[in-house]
Amino acid sequence: MLEILILAAGKGTRMRSDLPKVLHKLAGKPLLGHVVDTARALGATQTCVVYGFGGDAVPQALAGEPLTFVLQAEQQGTGHAVQQALPRLSDDSVTLVLYGDVPLTQVTTLQPLIAAALAGRLGLLTVNLNPPDGYGRIVREQGQVKRIVEHKDATPAERSIQEVNTGILAANTRQLRQWIGRLKNDNAQGEYYLTDIIAMAVEAGVMIETHHPAHAWEVLGVNSKAQLAELERIHQHEVAQGLLEAGVTLLDPARLDVRGTLRCGRDVAIDVNCVFEGSVSLGDGVQVGANCVLRNVTVAAGTKIDAFTLIDDAVVGEANKIGPFSRIRPGSTLARDVHVGNFVEIKNSQIDDGSKINHLSYVGDTTMGKNVNIGAGTITCNYDGANKHRTVIEDDVFVGSDTQLVAPVTVGKGATLGAGTTLTRDAPPGELTLSRAKQTTFSGWQRPVKTPKP
Ligand code: UD1
Ligand code: CA
Repeated sequence: MLEILILAAGKGTRMRSDLPKVLHKLAGKPLLGHVVDTARALGATQTCVVYGFGGDAVPQALAGEPLTFVLQAEQQGTGHAVQQALPRLSDDSVTLVLYGDVPLTQVTTLQPLIAAALAGRLGLLTVNLNPPDGYGRIVREQGQVKRIVEHKDATPAERSIQEVNTGILAANTRQLRQWIGRLKNDNAQGEYYLTDIIAMAVEAGVMIETHHPAHAWEVLGVNSKAQLAELERIHQHEVAQGLLEAGVTLLDPARLDVRGTLRCGRDVAIDVNCVFEGSVSLGDGVQVGANCVLRNVTVAAGTKIDAFTLIDDAVVGEANKIGPFSRIRPGSTLARDVHVGNFVEIKNSQIDDGSKINHLSYVGDTTMGKNVNIGAGTITCNYDGANKHRTVIEDDVFVGSDTQLVAPVTVGKGATLGAGTTLTRDAPPGELTLSRAKQTTFSGWQRPVKTPKP
């Protein structure tokens, strides 16, 4: 049985922020959320978060997750933090200690530590650093780990050791409880050091089994905005490499941001500076132009999205042509072979096969049939100042340019609306409807002339 403890009580002074450090976002998700995801992937029976700074902000931010929250009111060290959570942990389990500000540790790096603890040893993640300044040093004798000495307590000889403690360890919970109970704070920082349990384990005859992470960045923590930005780039680089390996064409892997999950079919191509948020899925052959933002969107095969397009909470069907400069807002569904052009905004609308809205239009709260052509500058007037109303445009309708459809209103199948029409009543199917002042020519009319200044 595995239980995971995530230490997240630190204030993060160097972030210079009112937000608790672990709630700052990496790839659109709180740092702590990444660690919680890792805990879930490891299959922990319980994940316990020790929080402190920021009051209830941390439990509130992760309220939807199956977590146990433990308050560490005063931060008296990492050993003290673990102690706060121990009453919640079961003796028959092994405990893995992770950190809410170390977001990129991979599951495969942690599994051997858990295996060590399950086999009665203490699993410790260490890394070689040059310079090792600031970190706890791993003191070995004849190759065996004997203890950890914190930088501030270390002798010059100990400070020259380059193998350092990442802080991540796994141990039998019953033993952990005994050791933590014996911690003292008679050290340079007056803190209860979790690291002091290593010497106790050795004394109890428990072997310390060390592992290194597969990549050094897996154990990097966030203490400042500069480090947060650095980890964001590392994470995005990894995501981009994964997409390239899966066969996605990225015009520049350094200019892609995925804040969530991006699933791609075969032969997907993504131009520079695109941002994908939430859950995005791109079907086979989808092309995304430069500078697009897609948030919680499904795009079916063969669709081409041109530059500077924003799509939010929408479903885009096969073989569409969207953009450049299109905005598709929540609740919209585009069927097959739909065209949406520049400066077109679509909101909460269903657009059926083969319909085209190519220029300068607003289509909101609309149900549109098949093979409709919407002229430039068409507006569905969906809002009367108090309520929203729907517009229904049936199959094969042709809407002339600069038309307003004042909802609720229905345009019947095959109807034509003349350019410049302001439609306030339903238009019958198959007929031409227009509302327009009669064109008049005033022959001999003169433009006014400018009065000369006195
Ligand atoms: C700790 C380790 C050190 C290791 C380093 C790796 C100890 C005594 N030292 O040092 O060996 O090389 O991490 O980064 O463990 N925290 C709490 N409550 C507390 C104190 C800390 O939740 O009372 C949390 C912090 O939020 C942070 C983590 O524990 O996420 C580490 O605390 P920090 O004070 O940064 O430990 P270090 O001195 O860096
Ligand atoms: Ca630290």
